[in-house]
Amino acid sequence: MFDLPAQRAHLSEKYDLAPSPELAESMSDIYDRMSRVVSPVDWAIYAPYVKAINDLKAERNAVILGHNYMTPEIYHGISDFGGDSLQLAIKATEVEADVIVQCGVHFMAETSKILSPRKTVLMPDMEAGCSLAESITAEGIEEMRRRYPGAPVVSYVNTTAEVKAASDICCTSSNAAQIVAAQDSDTVIMTPDQYLAQNVARDVPQKNVVWWEGSCIVHEQYSAKDLRDFREWNPGTRLIAHPECTPDVVAEADFSGSTSGIIKYVTDEKPEKALLITECSMASNIADQLPEVEFVGPCNMCPYMKKITLEKVLFALDTMTGQVEVDAAVADKARLSVQRMIDLSRKLGI
Ligand code: 13P
Ligand code: SF4
Repeated sequence: MFDLPAQRAHLSEKYDLAPSPELAESMSDIYDRMSRVVSPVDWAIYAPYVKAINDLKAERNAVILGHNYMTPEIYHGISDFGGDSLQLAIKATEVEADVIVQCGVHFMAETSKILSPRKTVLMPDMEAGCSLAESITAEGIEEMRRRYPGAPVVSYVNTTAEVKAASDICCTSSNAAQIVAAQDSDTVIMTPDQYLAQNVARDVPQKNVVWWEGSCIVHEQYSAKDLRDFREWNPGTRLIAHPECTPDVVAEADFSGSTSGIIKYVTDEKPEKALLITECSMASNIADQLPEVEFVGPCNMCPYMKKITLEKVLFALDTMTGQVEVDAAVADKARLSVQRMIDLSRKLGI
């Protein structure tokens, strides 16, 4: 558990973190990437943290990998690379750094550690989990293998290292259909997201896709009726859904894709109005680069992603606490599943 008062006391002894309009002004190049969604008053609060973190990054030879669901001050202020789960996993294999700070959730940090065992991987809040990763254990994978003998197990990267180690290959929302289609078996087991699996089953009808019954607490909240109501409320809005939504929601949407797939779609299409059926920060992070698009609600937050704050990132980098460790034998097996996914994605040009 975090001892926030102690963390704050530690940081205030070493850094001047008082809001500073002058510092904010001097960092206007960074602010310009988020000025549509972050007020100058808030930027003056964030700027001292952003400066301290960026200075420390250079000192520690660290890079920050920021998932698309991070808040704008993290995504644009301190991240060296932003992206979806697949892009961040690939980045973890490429970066030349001693330290990776994962601004995302725990399974992403574990994936980075699995792929870069010699680097120090820091998680600013160890309690930033994921409802999907929590829904299945390695025993669950064995249970599915018993139920469907001989069928390969394709596990979403939103899983623990143990689950990855027990699986044959991983997938993310940006390559799931292609990975399933490429399996040399009529029946393919997908874990742990039942809705991603059902969406893949529709797109890959040649396979008998069977699934574990996990779900994402953010995306499962939407119903197809919600989307019809959104359309009625704001006609002409393009509805764009993440494939962790139910198949009914995806069918009702104009487009479905991974978080980076959504960014690419909105960037290419530039609809007048867009409603992203996904985590709240996605729209904020692209609002400034797409001034011609009006982003219309909704705003469902992932409580896990939102555990990552500038303050916690600064504390982790300053004290080098929150180091992610994965048992070497588990990591070796898990690496095979993740690397197979990366290799197959490259081969398929994803
Ligand atoms: P992406 O792979 O699309 O970034 O999704 C990760 C995630 O956790 C979505 O909820
Ligand atoms: Fe997990 Fe859903 Fe949060 Fe993504 S949005 S990290 S799938 S709980």
